[in-house]
Amino acid sequence: MVSIADSHAHLIDKAFKSDEEEVIKRAQDKGVRLIINLGYDLRTSLAAVKLAEDYNSIYASVGIHPHEAGKVPDNYQERLKKLAQKEKVVALGEIGLDYYRDLSPREKQKEVFRELLRVAREIRYPVIIHDREAHDDILKILEEEKGGENGGVLHCFSGDWNMAQKCIDMGFYISIAGPVTFKKSDKLQEVAKKLPLNRMLVETDCPYLAPVPFRGKRNEPSYVKFTLERIASLRGDRWEDLAQATYDNTRRVFNLD
Ligand code: NI
Repeated sequence: MVSIADSHAHLIDKAFKSDEEEVIKRAQDKGVRLIINLGYDLRTSLAAVKLAEDYNSIYASVGIHPHEAGKVPDNYQERLKKLAQKEKVVALGEIGLDYYRDLSPREKQKEVFRELLRVAREIRYPVIIHDREAHDDILKILEEEKGGENGGVLHCFSGDWNMAQKCIDMGFYISIAGPVTFKKSDKLQEVAKKLPLNRMLVETDCPYLAPVPFRGKRNEPSYVKFTLERIASLRGDRWEDLAQATYDNTRRVFNLD
């Protein structure tokens, strides 16, 4: 049976409160043998660490989402560093910039993003980057802070092919999410077609961004197959081969081998 990795899930979200176990079971039944489960802030990062303790297939990433950057306590870097040392924590994230919703002041987002990239370099962890309508500042800060030094991933990639190449050159992987299955996603589909297979990851970003045919509904890790199938048809590959390659890549970027 094929092995599938969901490189970005938020199983700690309240959307999964009532049926978390069934969701995880469903993913296992569909061949999802690896899930990277991310926190948005200190509280949910701790929850992500706890969940990873209960399941072989689940690993955790701890971070401060840009939406939460405006609310961090003074000692957040120390607390995150401590959390990062727990078993099964494989990355720092998600971290980044979100100029679409602007839920934290942009200056504060940039400050926290830089601080967390420095923490990641200090503890030598890969990073998981959130970028929404902030491409130029993301590239600039990643370059200035040497964000790719320990590898990492641009999650739910939304830039163009030119940006993807720059990120790859810095040492990053590119993760493709459900929007590749949407109509009017030409730019993302072009990236999915051109990406070297050894730099591609796939993800759900669940509970958000469910792929077609579940668009608009709650997303879950078992749906990552629909994203794999769409990318495979764009590239003329077998989805099983893409699944195996992205599974291997996910293990490599998060140092699981
Ligand atoms: Ni996310």
